[in-house]
Amino acid sequence: MKIYTPKWPKLHITTFLKIVSTYLNGYWSWYGKNEIELINKFSKLQTSKYAITTVSGTCALETILSALNIKKGDEVIVPAYTWISTITSVVRVGATPVLVDIDPQTLCISPQKIKEAISDKTKAIIPVHLFSAMADMDNINKIAEENNLIVIEDCAHAHGASYRNKGAGSVSAAGAFSFQQSKLMCAGEGGIITTNDINIARICDSIVHIGWSIFNEKANPPKNAICTKTVLTEFQCAILADACNYIEDETKKRESNANYLEYLLKDVPQIRFQKTSEGTTRRSYYYFTFMLNLDKIKQGVSKYSIIEDLKKEGVPADNGWGVPVYKHEHWNLTDDMFKKFDTEKAENISMNEVICLLHPILLTSKKNIFRTAEIIKKVIKKYQV
Ligand SMILES: Cc1ncc(COP(=O)(O)O)c(C=O)c1O
Repeated sequence: MKIYTPKWPKLHITTFLKIVSTYLNGYWSWYGKNEIELINKFSKLQTSKYAITTVSGTCALETILSALNIKKGDEVIVPAYTWISTITSVVRVGATPVLVDIDPQTLCISPQKIKEAISDKTKAIIPVHLFSAMADMDNINKIAEENNLIVIEDCAHAHGASYRNKGAGSVSAAGAFSFQQSKLMCAGEGGIITTNDINIARICDSIVHIGWSIFNEKANPPKNAICTKTVLTEFQCAILADACNYIEDETKKRESNANYLEYLLKDVPQIRFQKTSEGTTRRSYYYFTFMLNLDKIKQGVSKYSIIEDLKKEGVPADNGWGVPVYKHEHWNLTDDMFKKFDTEKAENISMNEVICLLHPILLTSKKNIFRTAEIIKKVIKKYQV
């Protein structure tokens, strides 16, 4: 039984033609027509009033934190299970990230654990919409409001996702998206900031355009942040502006195939699925994620044996980083740079239970999804008690 995983990124002739036309027209720098098209289309997609492009998701996070004047002496609450940029962006503006545990159902930051970590230094919270789930924004925003804190969404995995019919990145002060190679919209590298607040938009835009902003009539560098130049070229914007035409249909297809896969696997007692929070109205599937119920798996079997078996059968299985952020091989923060609460769930679940399937498989046929489910069942059966 063979299964098919398409290559990513998916190529489109329309994108190719847009790149060629950009080359021929000779304007390749900032605020060209592709960048304007991208910010208009992307903000519409994510229902935010404004969007500001930049060179990466990491840079988007750092820019938002600088714009909001988060600085030395401030604390920012972050999940312990994420990519390291969520954390390093806080350290790079001089503030202290405070790592807290996750909700074991959604794998996103736990609102209860946020409450326990608030101190008189806390200024902000960065929930990450992880893999295919949206963080519990209702409760996170409520806690933020009660404690006068700013919320910034890390939306690196959430292109096309929505919460109570508002796009990811528009249910907080600002959202940071990534357009890195593996992401649901990609241009090799790239990032974008979304916000509904004109002041945040102006400051972020000025930071990345060395003091200039399309939202101002003339150069007006912000008082509280040093500007830099981290803009996308018109070539990247050409790819991304065109990707905006495909993302809605692709998101729907991924969601429909993910639901089908979950349905086909629902009676396998050895696994459970990543859930999303109640307010989610559209899920974006960066990873289709399930967790092993270890009490139903033979003792001593590691998730890596299962991942390897799945890969041998052609299933694009991944370990979902395999560790909480502070155990990642890229992590180089010294103990005085961050604080960490008890993160037992993030540790156990990421290291022992999480298995992810990469998103390109979710753009294939129902037949292919059926075969994928059959392989997963076969592999799991080998290890069941
Ligand atoms: C959760 C999360 N946040 C932020 C980023 C950073 O994005 P970039 O690689 O574009 O800097 C990533 C990238 O993988 C990510 O997974």
